[in-house]
Amino acid sequence: MIQATYQRIVLASRPRGSVTADNFRLETVSTPTLLEPQQVLVRNQFLSLDPYMRGRMSLVKSYAQPQELNDTMIGATAGVVVQSSHADFNPGDSVTGMLGWSEMGVAPGEQLRKVDARQIPLSAYLGIVGMPGVTAWYGVNQILQAKAGQTLVVSAASGAVGSVVGQLARLLGCRVVGIAGGEQKCRYVVEQLGFDACVDYKKYATPEELLAALTAATPAGIDLLFENVGGNVLDASLAQLNAFARIALCGMISGYNGQPQPLKNTNRLLTMRVMLQGFIVTEHPDIWPQALSELAALVAGKQVIYHETIADGLAAAPAAFMGLLSGQNLGKQLVKLN
Ligand SMILES: NC(=O)c1ccc[n+]([C@@H]2O[C@H](COP(=O)([O-])OP(=O)(O)OC[C@H]3O[C@@H](n4cnc5c(N)ncnc54)[C@H](OP(=O)(O)O)[C@@H]3O)[C@@H](O)[C@H]2O)c1
Repeated sequence: MIQATYQRIVLASRPRGSVTADNFRLETVSTPTLLEPQQVLVRNQFLSLDPYMRGRMSLVKSYAQPQELNDTMIGATAGVVVQSSHADFNPGDSVTGMLGWSEMGVAPGEQLRKVDARQIPLSAYLGIVGMPGVTAWYGVNQILQAKAGQTLVVSAASGAVGSVVGQLARLLGCRVVGIAGGEQKCRYVVEQLGFDACVDYKKYATPEELLAALTAATPAGIDLLFENVGGNVLDASLAQLNAFARIALCGMISGYNGQPQPLKNTNRLLTMRVMLQGFIVTEHPDIWPQALSELAALVAGKQVIYHETIADGLAAAPAAFMGLLSGQNLGKQLVKLN
């Protein structure tokens, strides 16, 4: 029997600076009793937490519209079909969608993707075999065009995107150097993910010390930069760029709360004749099928690995999201829904 109500989290107010718990509200709502034609009712098992959600919470001009107040927080989900009026979906099917911070949700079948959760766990379709994995794949292959022998640096290296970037580049024969916050993350990046080196940016009090550590880790300079952080971390990498370096500008998470992000080494963009490309992975639907099938094969063959940090229950989502924005996650941040 389908439960009569379920819980969801809505955006209650817009953050001023850092996100706080009172920006969210947990609500109980009624489960729809009648589906319209082509609709599917899904019970979500996992919710993906991603840095882009911080941008949607604010009224700022960006590549996407802000999230409306009192609407379910935006987010990717993975779950199981409980009822369907769409011929392609049956109860019991595993699907991913954008059903938000919610235990259940209804979507037109066209907005859901059926996935095979027998070989690859359902949760991985929100991470390495989902949007973060495709982001890494696009940046490494399409923008950086990584080649054997090049030195690639990636920031937020232990995270959902960064961990895949480094592993893909290693498979292509690059020397890979991560930048991450804390000794434990750096150990994971080198010992588990197989990066050649990792710089713990939190260990250094000044930009000069950070640059010295990065210089030691990249003795041949940086050919390829996959940037996830911005600010001081990006500035250190700019200083180490080689001639004709390429930069995939994926994220600038250190500024998502609105802090200024001054850069001192922008002259390197000119003097090193750098190619810099910002990108939004959802604007490249043409490459998703190839990226997803390659990533799935690499995961199934255990050529790439992944780690998940899993919060328990919908009510834990706000704290887990604030944790993601302050570096408390290792690998992909998810919420397991009960
Ligand atoms: N362009 C696109 O289409 C696209 C798609 C997906 C993701 N992204 C971007 O890619 C980046 C990584 O996303 P993800 O999903 O893989 O997240 P993630 O790396 O799994 O988690 C975020 C990490 O960012 C780091 N961080 C947080 N606040 C920071 C700060 N103030 N200064 C420096 N580092 C900070 C933390 O790692 P440390 O502890 O190591 O600092 C944290 O663990 C984000 O910038 C995101 O916006 C872009």
